[in-house]
Amino acid sequence: MGADREKGKSRKENTEAEIALINRLAESEHPEKILESAQPFMELMSRYRCAMMEVETKLRVLDEEFSLTYDRNPFETIKSRLKRPVSIIEKMKRRGYPLTVEEIEKRLNDIAGIRVICSFPDDIYRLADMLIRQDDIRLVQKKDYIVSPKPNGYRSLHLILEVPIFLSDSKRYMKVEVQFRTIAMDFWASLDHKLKYKKDVQEPERIAAQLKECADIISSMDERMQQIRDQIETGRTGDGRCSGSGPMEEA
Ligand code: GTP
Ligand code: MG
Repeated sequence: MGADREKGKSRKENTEAEIALINRLAESEHPEKILESAQPFMELMSRYRCAMMEVETKLRVLDEEFSLTYDRNPFETIKSRLKRPVSIIEKMKRRGYPLTVEEIEKRLNDIAGIRVICSFPDDIYRLADMLIRQDDIRLVQKKDYIVSPKPNGYRSLHLILEVPIFLSDSKRYMKVEVQFRTIAMDFWASLDHKLKYKKDVQEPERIAAQLKECADIISSMDERMQQIRDQIETGRTGDGRCSGSGPMEEA
């Protein structure tokens, strides 16, 4: 999830990042804002953390049920992260928005982010649909970069969801960004991400063209793997034994 995504970030590290924000604000032109904004900001981050846990749990529950129905898990891994305060400040400044808690919540969709890595493309859609259909989930935005890849070859399904969190005296809907990818798409995206931060790359156009070519190869490989999986599934009888005939050989 961009430069701000940090794998396996712990609660302790978040707190350190939050302290870093306060230090940064201390160097700003309006140090009086520190006291005004620190506590509400911490509360905002805490609400996002709860929303992220909520959606992650929903996905894990679906995984559990799906694995009983289909005898396999719909996703391989799930990673969650909260955007770091420095990245929040940087994005707000870059977009020219005022740095207030209200504006942060209104303007940014990706403070709470979840990445779901599936084995096969069709599992992505099955899982995403099951999640969207839940009656407490609101779908704010859907960007399907699998059906319509970015010009550089990037593929993933991005959802912005709103999920309610129940506080002691109120119910708040919070936004969570969920990115669904296959293992192969994730492999490509992580390399692409690494190369973006490399300085002085020789012949960047040639590198970009090669990356695009790899993205297309990966995509057709995903489709092939899914077809193979389908053949295996169709070839299985109810008791898990192989029937011996492929789908094309049926009478
Ligand atoms: P931002 O999150 O502000 O960039 O908003 P956006 O509306 O441009 O979002 P988009 O859904 O296009 O992308 C959001 C996230 O998807 C990024 O933060 C990355 O994690 C990921 N992403 C999008 N494009 C690429 C890409 O070309 N390469 C890689 N590696 N990741 C990408
Ligand atoms: Mg982002």
